[in-house]
Amino acid sequence: MNNKTLLENLRNIPDFPKKGVIFRDVTTLFDNPDCLQIMEEELYDLYKDKGITKIVGIESRGFIMSSALAIRLHAGVVLCRKPGKLPCDTIQETYTKEYGTDTIEIHKDAITSDDVVLLHDDLLATGGTMKAAYDLVKKFNPKKIYINFIIELTREGMHGRDNFDKETEVTSLLEV
Ligand code: PRP
Ligand code: ADE
Repeated sequence: MNNKTLLENLRNIPDFPKKGVIFRDVTTLFDNPDCLQIMEEELYDLYKDKGITKIVGIESRGFIMSSALAIRLHAGVVLCRKPGKLPCDTIQETYTKEYGTDTIEIHKDAITSDDVVLLHDDLLATGGTMKAAYDLVKKFNPKKIYINFIIELTREGMHGRDNFDKETEVTSLLEV
């Protein structure tokens, strides 16, 4: 269900970063205290009973709500970063996204098989980024993996959630 306040405050920028892409600018939800609170409450309602122990935030816009929710759930935050940023041993995945390719990595000791993991990012487009993060986290063999986005692109020929099998619970706060 789309939240009216979130939808009204999302900024849409045509042809950024390249022609044909409508950039959904989540920063106008982050800098609005009402939107921030709505997002935090909706996320808490979705995940309060799931026993989440780690939230994996995807660089960089995924870090914001990962942190807010982790504090509320008393879970840890794991940073999923672009290459060369994490100082210790990592596992990597390379993937294709809406406008190019990229690599992400996670510290090898950041997740254990006892963890229940929520993967969080601001936006689902092709799903390439989250699929890479999902494949990465699966290597840690956690008890369960959940996936969440603030925004899910569904109206521009995007079927990002088709990257994930039916058993994996994927949620989003806004569909555009
Ligand atoms: C954006 C967005 C997601 C990803 C979604 O990140 O924050 O991580 O693209 O696209 P996909 O579903 O097609 O993979 P970006 O790579 O622009 O990095 P940023 O968050 O650091 O700006
Ligand atoms: N990341 C990939 N596609 C995007 C879009 N259309 N808007 C914002 N971030 C994105």
